[in-house]
Amino acid sequence: MTSTLITNIGTLVTNDPSCPGLLGLVEDAAVVIDGSVVTWTGRAAEAPAADQAFDAEGRALLPGFVDSHAHLVFAGDRTAEFNARMSGQSYTAGGIRTTVAATRSASDAQLSANVSRFITEALRQGTTTVECKSGYGLTVEDEARSLRIAATYTSETTYLGAHVVAPEFADDPSAYVDLVTGEMLDACAPYARWVDVFCEQGAFDGDQARAVLTAGIERGLTPRVHANQLSHGPGVQLAVELGAASADHCTHLTDADVAALAGSATVATLLPGAEFSTRAPYPNARRLLDAGATVALSTDCNPGSSFTTSMAFCIAVAVREMGMTPDEAVHAATTGGARALRRTDVGHISPGARADLLLLDAPSPVHLAYRPGVPLTAAVWRAGVREL
Ligand code: NIG
Ligand code: FE
Repeated sequence: MTSTLITNIGTLVTNDPSCPGLLGLVEDAAVVIDGSVVTWTGRAAEAPAADQAFDAEGRALLPGFVDSHAHLVFAGDRTAEFNARMSGQSYTAGGIRTTVAATRSASDAQLSANVSRFITEALRQGTTTVECKSGYGLTVEDEARSLRIAATYTSETTYLGAHVVAPEFADDPSAYVDLVTGEMLDACAPYARWVDVFCEQGAFDGDQARAVLTAGIERGLTPRVHANQLSHGPGVQLAVELGAASADHCTHLTDADVAALAGSATVATLLPGAEFSTRAPYPNARRLLDAGATVALSTDCNPGSSFTTSMAFCIAVAVREMGMTPDEAVHAATTGGARALRRTDVGHISPGARADLLLLDAPSPVHLAYRPGVPLTAAVWRAGVREL
């Protein structure tokens, strides 16, 4: 194995609570990576020798972004729907069925090429961990193949057979819930780590969501929930009650929802790309942070409500529109995402962590919000491999 000493780092974001500030900053820093892991961090003057050196030229080094919520297994796009929305139409969950039809007609090779394209696109923008959901197949075969394909690209796979009721079951939603909690779960569980449900009017109500999550838990999957996106609902409370890793969207929250999240280990995952692309009001990150909740930021990349793989874009919007400081937003996009995926090996730069590093073409992580829309990726390492 070859070790690399990264020197001349302008600002090192470690996210190590024993270092100063929310981001655990180290000035005049150096990092050593060896094989797939970080083996040393600290002041450059004290750095140990390594096989080779990399000069960071005074730029900021961050943990790679952890995108803990994405829907990447699909075919087609929804340009016309987006165009109509930007002319005044409102977003509904119904558009999901358009993508379901396109996904069902696509070959495995086409779906796989799409996932690969989006993971590569994300990697080029500094994302080194991506969660990936099914949910555009909605048959036993199409959900299972979606997860089988996703699992070839990431270990963070999520069974979302309960995205919406499949069109064939429009007249009998409870039969669809039976399928999702029975035969479909059996076919999908071997390829999934997580179980998710879209708990929303027009998708699944609280009782149906509970049935889906409970069945997943019984099969060894850990729950996460699409909760309180388009309206107030039972999703957040259900997520907390079932010990879900995260409640995602959290756009419409009561004081009781905020208190429940703050008093739990369930991460509030905010997805500003969705509000941006549906022209909806943004979730209030400030309220959640002030109450003591753990917040993650993710892209929600999908063809309907948020067709972006850019964590930098989400950071910029969260700072401008959701009451987050730049440090809080960067923290939420790295450590926050890792917590939402219950991962301790990513989201931070400390000895033992996976060597997932993002070198910014800027001296400070603040530039991610300060220079919106500007490509700032100078280099990326994933598990110690230089990818860019
Ligand atoms: O997270 N909310 C449900 N699912 C996606 C949207 C999917 C779609 O519109 O295709 C979301 O926003
Ligand atoms: Fe989503």
